[in-house]
Amino acid sequence: MPDVFILGIESSCDETAAAVVRSGEEVVSNVVYSQIATHQSYGGVVPELASREHLRAIVPVVRKALEDAQQTYDSIDALAVTKGPGLAGSLLVGVSYAKALAYALEKPLIGMNHLEGHIHAVLLEERQNGNCELEFPVLALVVSGGHTHLFLAERRDHGWIYHDVGHTRDDAAGEAFDKVAKLLELGYPGGPVIDFLAKHGNPQAVKFPFAQIKHRDRNPQNRHAEDEQRVDFSYSGIKTAVLRYVETHDMRASIAQRRHVLAQSANPSRQDVLAACDPPTLDLVASFQRAMVNDLVSKTLSAAREHNVATVLVTGGVAANSELRTAFQSAAAEEGLPVHFPSRKLSTDNAAMIAAAAYPRFIAGEIADSELSADAGLKLR
Ligand code: KG4
Ligand code: ZN
Repeated sequence: MPDVFILGIESSCDETAAAVVRSGEEVVSNVVYSQIATHQSYGGVVPELASREHLRAIVPVVRKALEDAQQTYDSIDALAVTKGPGLAGSLLVGVSYAKALAYALEKPLIGMNHLEGHIHAVLLEERQNGNCELEFPVLALVVSGGHTHLFLAERRDHGWIYHDVGHTRDDAAGEAFDKVAKLLELGYPGGPVIDFLAKHGNPQAVKFPFAQIKHRDRNPQNRHAEDEQRVDFSYSGIKTAVLRYVETHDMRASIAQRRHVLAQSANPSRQDVLAACDPPTLDLVASFQRAMVNDLVSKTLSAAREHNVATVLVTGGVAANSELRTAFQSAAAEEGLPVHFPSRKLSTDNAAMIAAAAYPRFIAGEIADSELSADAGLKLR
């Protein structure tokens, strides 16, 4: 089969990204424009600002991705764009731009699910590293700022189908990292800074219990099993638990002090944040991360046993977490289960994953028509 070069475009949240991927197996270029600086002072993504930044960045980001790949608008074979899930205004920028470009170039356009993209970030890199044979069934944990989902992934003809076997009932895991970092005045986004600080604290200092949320799926539309055990997540409680701990341990003054110290610098480094943290704060951060990691690992492996899977994939922004990676690797090894992650660069939002996931759909002829639109609540099936 001849090489197929797909230009991927991603704008579902706060990263404007474009990439060129060859035949779903080689990243030829990968450009990510992050809006962190825009949202930093708010401690979270502001949707209106995100859409405005996407509008500003999308044309230069796409041009750079083509340039880096030594491709042109004419030489690429197809375009792929994230149509959902995500922020409606942000998605609209990518979808409208990709539709206009595909129409003008008379090239096929594939509308993609962002979560499918995260799963294919792992598959793309495994193929790139020469591992083309994953054992099935596959269980994928997609864990990011907006999502915490467990999917069983199966191959069907040339494509893939997905079955949701568990998801968060409230906050996503990355959202908990971001909210706890905001509460403790550690900066934004919370995941990378907590990952760094946790190494300096005692993870056993504070205990955060998690509820086991298991129930039987009795939805008759569920084709997998009428009586299937689901494993769901819940991360809104841990933020409240951290807040209560702060209040009962008189940590407000040290948080205010840190805010004051870090406000002196325009762009404080991680070392600056570390220097502004006292031992009780570092212990709290390390314990929070340990609790999150234990919950994600134990529930994912419990679902892996329930569904008798042969391979586990862990992907999305939180998959960049170093403790999560180590914990997954050792717990899965004990069960003889291979576990794969994307590189850190492809863990967080990017467009290479969108272009890679689009390849089997392109081969299967799943081309979008003029009705393609953004769908903020798009489900993966
Ligand atoms: O996949 P992503 O870029 O965007 C979404 O689809 O949501 O994920 C961003 C999320 C943020 O919540 C961020 O705090 C978290 O991923 N994150 C991490 C780490 N790096 C990013 N969480 C924990 N540890 C990290 N090293
Ligand atoms: Zn994402």
